[in-house]
Amino acid sequence: MTNATITGWGKALPPSVLTNSDLEKIMDTSDEWITSRSGIKERRISHVETSDMATIAGFRALAAAGLEPSDIDLIIVATCSPDTLIPSAAAYVQAKLGATNAAAVDLNAACSGFIYSLVFGANMIRGGTNRRVLVIGAEKLHSYIDFTDRSTSVLFGDGAGAVVLEPTEGDEGLLSSELGMDGESAEFLCIPGFGTVGDRVPDLPSEVGVQMDGQEVFRRAVTMMGDSSVRVVEEAGLDFEDVDILIPHQANQRIIDATARRIKLASDQVFMNIHAYGNTSAATIPIALTEALEQGRIRPGANIVFAAFGGGLSW
Ligand code: COA
Repeated sequence: MTNATITGWGKALPPSVLTNSDLEKIMDTSDEWITSRSGIKERRISHVETSDMATIAGFRALAAAGLEPSDIDLIIVATCSPDTLIPSAAAYVQAKLGATNAAAVDLNAACSGFIYSLVFGANMIRGGTNRRVLVIGAEKLHSYIDFTDRSTSVLFGDGAGAVVLEPTEGDEGLLSSELGMDGESAEFLCIPGFGTVGDRVPDLPSEVGVQMDGQEVFRRAVTMMGDSSVRVVEEAGLDFEDVDILIPHQANQRIIDATARRIKLASDQVFMNIHAYGNTSAATIPIALTEALEQGRIRPGANIVFAAFGGGLSW
């Protein structure tokens, strides 16, 4: 049976760094508080739009796969911070890449968006609709951040990562997956004032900004990422000893540590780069995957588990 496998990867991080000590100067916080609660030391702030970062990551993933933009027949951009609502970020990316043969669509599942997109893209290949799919996670979250709210603003950053999916008849590729949503708990993590609920006025309403119950989100993230990882590993017919690396959504070091403990993974089986970028929502996993490959942490044939949790509440 035809499966879909990752053949290229790339990332794009804006050069501007916002450190915890920078934040100390504009709000009542400390490097010690942010580091001990989240593991974050610094994050990137983009001077260009989401689609610009997505395009650079996309070019790099295509280069890694040895493909031209015209080889791609579907682009999925996982984002909750598109440049505009219409056109989609994916439409801009298609134009900037010159991927003239590609259909293009945005997917919003907040921090789980990359995994949703990976599964959707893989199934388009498995079903025979598409052959080469570019899946990108890209966010310019600082546009939503209310820098007077210290409880959320210290956690997020900007960036993009991408993978190319291609068909394979071998035994590699996407082995199993689980996607889920608990829409009834959406209030625990949301940006409530943006969309048709808002007034049609040029000034953004004050509800535009991340609202979050940190402890509720924390508890649910550990449970859902852990339990869902157990189910997909089982479904793939594997044990956790067979898992070479867990690449979790990078929201909080303590969430990742607690998830790893829940499923009894050793620290060298878990990839973490949250200290450098903070939470870039749908972009964390493709950025982390790219860095794990750059660091030689992933060898051909490795078994990788991706796990994410975020607004929706999605996992
Ligand atoms: N600097 C200093 N103090 C801060 C602060 C900051 N940036 N943000 C909040 N505080 C204060 C609070 O006001 C509170 O003070 P009080 O006790 O005087 O009221 C205190 O720190 C403790 O806040 P609390 O919310 O209990 O901290 P916590 O240990 O739960 O950690 C989070 C807060 C947000 C780091 C943590 O709950 C978390 O990471 N949750 C998951 C969030 C997440 O990852 N969301 C995205 C998922 S995709």
